[in-house]
Amino acid sequence: MVRKKEENSSRYSQLEEGANRAKPVLHQHAREIQPFNKIARLPNALDEVVCAKSIENLNQLLADTMTLRDMYKKHHWQVAGPTFYQLHLLFDKHHGEQDELVDTIAERIQLLGGVSLAMAADVAETTLIPRPPRGREEVPVQISRLLEAHEIILKEARAMARQASDGGDDGTNDLIVSDLIRLNELQIWFLAEHLVAVPFTSSGTGESRGTTVATRAFCGARTGRTGFQRRGHRGHREKRKIFSSILSSQWSQCPLYYSSVNSFAWRDEFHAASGVRSRTVERRAARMAPMALRPFSVS
Ligand SMILES: [Fe+2]
Repeated sequence: MVRKKEENSSRYSQLEEGANRAKPVLHQHAREIQPFNKIARLPNALDEVVCAKSIENLNQLLADTMTLRDMYKKHHWQVAGPTFYQLHLLFDKHHGEQDELVDTIAERIQLLGGVSLAMAADVAETTLIPRPPRGREEVPVQISRLLEAHEIILKEARAMARQASDGGDDGTNDLIVSDLIRLNELQIWFLAEHLVAVPFTSSGTGESRGTTVATRAFCGARTGRTGFQRRGHRGHREKRKIFSSILSSQWSQCPLYYSSVNSFAWRDEFHAASGVRSRTVERRAARMAPMALRPFSVS
């Protein structure tokens, strides 16, 4: 037994000696091969001054894009409330898209002969986007912060794209316009729509639920052809009466109208009921739209 142990240990030590050349050499230090603010020229037929300007601009965009990307991850983790799931996923999707953009910008800087910013401390020193607090914030605040960051980036990006184009750096111009500007504009749309104050589950007050019940009862569900258009349907005359009253002098006082001003389906029913030229009905709807929705309860 003892002999076997000795055999094993000698076998292992032999292995260790034989692996000397495969050992990693750790803790090495040397001078940088290229300082941050120097250009290593490449044969890209671009003027050095143009390259230097593009590198400087791209590094600014890189720092701001990295900050925005990280802000998306922060909000992805810290989001709260009834829209948690959809925003949790949306923020992560945008984070992924910004992350791809970060890589594209950084590699453009390198291929122009420059050095890309990389580390968080350098990014924090360079970015123009205000630092958010460490703690969690409400969804509208999170989205507002993201929108402000997007706008800062777009503002500088448009000016930088023009500069690159004027200097003949079409590649940088194309990256800024096709990748950066378009992505930011698209993400702004997806975010900003979350800040539009529309009813969440029902239009108006609790009583307005009766409106839906009432209108469905009178006119049929809003699927396919409406009850109003169905021939021989019971209540056809009643519906005609209701729509006539809506379109008469008292129409603006009819609660049904208030529940329908924003609905295309209902607008079509108005057209069918009245025979009034659609433009007239639309003008009326536009005039009345800002008025508050009036509740209508079924007796
Ligand atoms: Fe995650």
